[in-house]
Amino acid sequence: MSASAPIGVFDSGVGGLSVLKAAQAQLPFEHFIYYADSGFAPYGDKSDAYVIARSEHIGAWLVSQEVKAIVVACNTATAIAVQALRARYRLPIVGIEPGLKPAIAATRSGKIGVLATARTLASERYAKLLARVQAQSPQINFIPRVGEGWVEQVERGDFDSSQASQTVKRAVTPLFEAGCDTLVLGCTHYPFLSQAIQAAALGATIIDTAPAVARELERRIATEAVFNPATIGGTVRLATTGDAPVVAQLVIRMLGINPQTAASFVATR
Ligand code: DGL
Repeated sequence: MSASAPIGVFDSGVGGLSVLKAAQAQLPFEHFIYYADSGFAPYGDKSDAYVIARSEHIGAWLVSQEVKAIVVACNTATAIAVQALRARYRLPIVGIEPGLKPAIAATRSGKIGVLATARTLASERYAKLLARVQAQSPQINFIPRVGEGWVEQVERGDFDSSQASQTVKRAVTPLFEAGCDTLVLGCTHYPFLSQAIQAAALGATIIDTAPAVARELERRIATEAVFNPATIGGTVRLATTGDAPVVAQLVIRMLGINPQTAASFVATR
């Protein structure tokens, strides 16, 4: 595997850009391919079979591009499909899961809202994570909640309209009123709604695990692959099953990258 090989990052859509941003900050000299499966989003209300099939399709495509590692920048795909990907490929595969442990360190009220997709919250992987964490901290009350409509809101690139804030409030206000002082963002789309979330839950601590995923990616590359020795900034290539020009505009806006660094554009379906 060449040291300058890219790192593949994928999500059901543009949400995983919150993880890519953290990965770029952590590993500024690495090249990335970001796969936005926007033509098949959202994953969060689909069957396990659907999420596994999409993840395997994307995994195979990324491997065909000779990536040196894969980041599953989607809580739903991690919960449902990361095991299948790890069984198939030997390269480092880093997933993301709701940050229940950092939330325990942050809460004072002992009440934590966990915002994620229905598929993530219903998954066996999440049930096991919750059971492990609750065994250590039985006094903590985790309150799950689906961010209904949030993924679609982010896919539309609408983060701060009054409609966005109403959509956010519908899920956040009941958590805030129930005494949650900490909110876990268990879906990678949700950090793009952070401002509206914070406005609906003033003073609450918001937990996003993207920086932890980026550190884990760095650790895995250090031990199982090779860093790119370059000393000039890495590039981002974009692949999408969505409307390519629309997704490219969203990437430019959400990642704040210079369009020139979106080196090439590959649309696959
Ligand atoms: N961004 C994804 C996640 O972290 C998936 C959202 C969806 O497609 O429903 O769960």
